[in-house]
Amino acid sequence: MPIRLAVLLSGSGTTLQNLIDKQAQQELDVEIICVIGSRPDAYGLERARKHGIPECALCRRDYDTGQAYSEAIWREIRAHQADLVALAGFMLLLEVPPDYKDRIMNVHPALIPAFCGHKMYGHHVHQAVLDYGARISGATVHFVDEMYDHGPIILQDSVPVLQEDTADTLAERVQALERKLYPQAIQLFAEGRLCVEGRKVRIL
Ligand code: GAR
Repeated sequence: MPIRLAVLLSGSGTTLQNLIDKQAQQELDVEIICVIGSRPDAYGLERARKHGIPECALCRRDYDTGQAYSEAIWREIRAHQADLVALAGFMLLLEVPPDYKDRIMNVHPALIPAFCGHKMYGHHVHQAVLDYGARISGATVHFVDEMYDHGPIILQDSVPVLQEDTADTLAERVQALERKLYPQAIQLFAEGRLCVEGRKVRIL
């Protein structure tokens, strides 16, 4: 039986599209059972509709507190009986309930713990890498805890930063790596091969 995957996003949904494609190519043993957007105009929701995946938008501004917002999201996820939740460019911090500890993943377009944290997403990350003069960057897939881009690291790999790079060209190289690493990490979870021990993830 494929695992039941819920995807949370805020933007264009290229990360979601990659997971849909990998699943169609039978490289990812999951069923994407719902997509939740943090804004109704997130193009990722349109991608979900095109593939017949149940989707909805839950907006932070409709809830008084972050806690109430998190609870609404988890209600939806539990209703779909998700085994794993993949953040795919989801830009808000969620509370992690005990029943979903070590069952939420995120992909970040840099080598955590560098160039990450609140407001570090998309091109802001790549521009910060270029401005700092770093020689390498990369992508990280990690389990999610209560801080931005912080939980135990599952997979990480690097790409060179080239002298002539712009944020766009660096983003392209990093995104190619994300497209490889995220499905790999999800497939390891699906095969029951990820064991979290404190901050460390052992791959069985
Ligand atoms: C991805 O590149 C992902 O790494 C990044 O947002 C992008 C989402 O793109 N996530 C973060 O920066 C998390 N801190 P998408 O909306 O096209 O899938």
